[in-house]
Amino acid sequence: MKKIIVVGSLNMDIVLKVPHIPAPGETILATNVSLAAGGKGANQAVGIGKLGGNVCMLGRLGQDPYGQELYDSLEKNKVNTEGIVFDDDLPTGNAYICVSDKGENSIVVNPGANSALDPEQIKKYEWLFNEASYCLIQLEIPKDTVEYVLQICQEKKVKVIFNPAPAKPLKDELLKDLFLLVPNENEISILCSGSATLEEKAKELLDKNVQNIIVTLGERGCMLANKEGIQYFPAAPFEAVDTTGAGDSFIAGLAVALAEDNNLETAIKFASYVAGLTITKVGAQPSLPDRKTVNCYINI
Ligand code: RIB
Repeated sequence: MKKIIVVGSLNMDIVLKVPHIPAPGETILATNVSLAAGGKGANQAVGIGKLGGNVCMLGRLGQDPYGQELYDSLEKNKVNTEGIVFDDDLPTGNAYICVSDKGENSIVVNPGANSALDPEQIKKYEWLFNEASYCLIQLEIPKDTVEYVLQICQEKKVKVIFNPAPAKPLKDELLKDLFLLVPNENEISILCSGSATLEEKAKELLDKNVQNIIVTLGERGCMLANKEGIQYFPAAPFEAVDTTGAGDSFIAGLAVALAEDNNLETAIKFASYVAGLTITKVGAQPSLPDRKTVNCYINI
């Protein structure tokens, strides 16, 4: 099985169930509060592990009970943890997540130890990139670390799947020759300024030499853009209880299907079912489906 490396964040999520997402200046009461393992990087790694992929993660935790719980979640879900470091000073990252009755969410992340995942740690564990086929990366870790990882991937010919979340404007050099960029609608609007249509924004990124772009569109599915053209794919037919982690599980599904030598179209279909099943449960990692469950709905 081809190896997938994930470089990214690990957070303990504090999930507040609320009637609606509060507007600026509004105070509302939560109806429930719970804890769940999360962090975009860790969700993607655990998602791959649960689907039976060969995955290893590079990340940083605090020396506290949340850090231990997140580490245990990786181990339990068959993620290679050799690249996980426990920071001497900083606490484990946290995310404060409001989930509305409609299943929508809003997230504030306090990065903690994720902000100490520096190029030095990547250099120390560079050997983990050997023989990797894909590298998944997001933007909840320092930007110079992301830049360094992209450079290593280029040298070692590892294909990058880049999830620009939370989005910030990116230098064109970072996008050059990227195998796959997976933003949602908000994120692509931050990457491409102006009032262009979604398809025009995707073309702008293709012109910057991104090879493939998949824009996730929630219940409207997703759009794939590459040199072959533009294609739309429907979402899998599931009702949303909590959309937290849907994007992460979609990316995990994509990576596993691609690592099994499927083409992008088949990988998108598989990933849509993985994401669809994720939104039927509350919490990020607790809602990620295993391979057997996904196969009950779809077989690739
Ligand atoms: O993508 C969902 C994740 O974003 C949550 O688990 C939270 O930790 C934030 O990183």
